[in-house]
Amino acid sequence: MISDKIRDILNEQINKEFYSAYLYLSMSAYFSEIGLYGFSNWARIQSKEEIDHGMVLFEYILGRNSQIHLAQITTPSFDMSSPLAVFEQIYKHERSITAALDSVAITTEGECDLATRNFIDNYLKEQIEEEASVSKIIAKLKAFGAEKSALYLIDKELQEREYSQTSFL
Ligand code: FEO
Repeated sequence: MISDKIRDILNEQINKEFYSAYLYLSMSAYFSEIGLYGFSNWARIQSKEEIDHGMVLFEYILGRNSQIHLAQITTPSFDMSSPLAVFEQIYKHERSITAALDSVAITTEGECDLATRNFIDNYLKEQIEEEASVSKIIAKLKAFGAEKSALYLIDKELQEREYSQTSFL
């Protein structure tokens, strides 16, 4: 059993993960609309991974004999002025998710819940990878993205991304 405080903050995190899935899915649609199908593929796979993150939390709460509260998911909105603008927002969004997970970790320590603290470490490690991969795409877009032929090559590269279940599942 987990405390009510831990239950509530984990339920809030489920909402953030599913919001992330919505956000990436809407970005995937935007990239498809402007013909960047590789970018669209990348965002769609990211959306699937976010659903995985939400579902792992869901199973964890149930597994700890606690309660699920699924809150409303906010409609995503983002600046569609360029692929670089979108990825800069992705980076900012992932930084906010990292901060939210830091808060979860701090709460587990306050509640002396070391099992959940250990569980959340998986998410913190995942965030390091996500922030790093998004940073690399931003760097490429900044270096070459103004050239259409280079954007085409970056798009081709992102088309190669394949879905694999999140490593800590
Ligand atoms: Fe599940 Fe991108 O954080």
